[in-house]
Amino acid sequence: MFQSLLICSICAVGIDSTVQFTDNEWAILRSLSPAKLIQDTTNAFEQNEDAATIGQAIFFDQRFSSNQEVSCATCHKPELYFTDGEQTATGTGQTTRNSPTVLNAAHQRWFFWDGRTDTLWGQPIQTMEHPEEMNIPREKIADIIADDNNLGPLWVKTFGEMSECDIDTISANVAKSLAAYITKLDATSAPFDAFIAGNTKAISDSAKRGLKYFITDGGCLRCHFGPMFSDGAFHSVGIGPLNGGPLWDSGRAGAIDQLKTSQFTANSEHSDDKGNARAILSKHIAKKREDWGAFRTPSLRNVAKTAPYMHAGQIATLEEVLKHYSTLENFLSADHHRETILEPLNLTDQQTIDLIAFLESLTSPLPDETLLKAPE
Ligand code: HEC
Ligand code: HEC
Repeated sequence: MFQSLLICSICAVGIDSTVQFTDNEWAILRSLSPAKLIQDTTNAFEQNEDAATIGQAIFFDQRFSSNQEVSCATCHKPELYFTDGEQTATGTGQTTRNSPTVLNAAHQRWFFWDGRTDTLWGQPIQTMEHPEEMNIPREKIADIIADDNNLGPLWVKTFGEMSECDIDTISANVAKSLAAYITKLDATSAPFDAFIAGNTKAISDSAKRGLKYFITDGGCLRCHFGPMFSDGAFHSVGIGPLNGGPLWDSGRAGAIDQLKTSQFTANSEHSDDKGNARAILSKHIAKKREDWGAFRTPSLRNVAKTAPYMHAGQIATLEEVLKHYSTLENFLSADHHRETILEPLNLTDQQTIDLIAFLESLTSPLPDETLLKAPE
């Protein structure tokens, strides 16, 4: 008697825990995976192996900073999924933003938390010259490369003699090399992708419940959609400044001004495809009132590995991020007319556990280990 009861209760649990998705839901799920990279035609060296090797060498080399102590890998550490684990980044000085991962960065539409550049290669020179980050002038960067026994000849092979180029063209090629390396940093094959590809056992039942909630009642999909789980657009989810007080970071609004004056853009003279859709869009972009204090919807791929969260690392754990969406208790609004699509979700403990299990199912293995250190 006892025996059969036991078997029955196991059956019941088995049936209960099988999460079913409707045909419509499956259509949504298939829009989330697989992630395919669209080539960036504004960077003619994006797929060039030698350029990528140069970029990889620079990425790990501390000589490219004023105090010789900072490299890109200081803030984008491979073992931390190319983040630094800090709330806000410290280089040659103290910045006010959190270091995002550069894994899958090539999939983004806009770069940085505020989208102040429209190409992946639009970014590195800004960072290298920034007084709080690496603080090194572009002329010095060129000298180090030219004088280096390995980099010097590889540069000539890839881009020709430095002496025949002006410093801005050299800088653009440094940036395109770094972008070529970052483009190889792909981490888009998570258990979630295996599940979508047909392996029903690739993720747990808890993760499936979390996924279902994510695409239905949770409303997360309104901003976190597509294979990167990001609409590539800018929103505020009401996160206040790291050290309290009123909102001061203008986010997307300030970035649009910077985009208009920035040197290395899709539409700039150093772009290899000025007719590119990005270039046209950037030219016509106009500031909207809701851009003030808005930040790019972050990708959720590998998110379980990249704490702390939000543009200034204001939130320490995924559980606390979900608590924010659940209660909206400390929601801080730039003005009360703005976007009100967020409603407190009042998550149960089980829903929180399930959502975390789902977010964890988006963790891919790191790229090949030859890409996680300076090239041989
Ligand atoms: C001092 C720490 C620091 C250093 C050094 C640093 N970064 Fe970053 N990186 C950041 C921070 C912080 C952000 C986000 C800044 C923002 O949004 O305003 C960022 C953003 C990025 C992004 C944009 C990612 C995205 O998803 O939009 C890329 C790409 C990147 N960095 C590459 C590099 C490269 C290449 C180097 C070396 C040339 C470098 N970083 C050096 C801290 C750093
Ligand atoms: C209105 C659009 C929107 C909706 C809806 C939304 N998010 Fe977000 N999410 C964002 C934006 C924008 C950020 C970054 C905000 C910032 O840095 O100030 C963010 C940040 C996050 C982060 C932190 C990621 C990181 O790398 O820092 C997680 C995790 C997250 N959201 C999960 C969710 C989940 C789960 C849901 C549904 C319950 C959800 N989001 C609903 C736009 C949205």
